[in-house]
Amino acid sequence: MADYVKVAAVSQIPADHGFVAETNGKRIAIFKLGGDYFAIDDACTHVGGPLSEGQMMGQNVVCPWHGAQFNLTTGACTPPARGPVKRYPVRVNGSDIEVAIEIEA
Ligand code: FES
Repeated sequence: MADYVKVAAVSQIPADHGFVAETNGKRIAIFKLGGDYFAIDDACTHVGGPLSEGQMMGQNVVCPWHGAQFNLTTGACTPPARGPVKRYPVRVNGSDIEVAIEIEA
């Protein structure tokens, strides 16, 4: 089951890099792209680099450890990433950023 939980305030999300939120034991990286928000697992699928600390290049975030790129809108990635990173639905509720995460039953 997935439910939306607050992970940040809109005002906390910078325009040029990510913000990391910890909720339900997960580290989720939040990004603002234009007027939209995206949420992905913070851990790179190569060896776990913190994607919230990566620079944004257009629709991509660049892993700060070895340079893999992840497209925030499609999930596509480049080597040395081993596969797409998990993405989460995001919504804005008033001044809050909410992310749909799976809740353990
Ligand atoms: S940990 Fe991200 S590219 Fe290596």
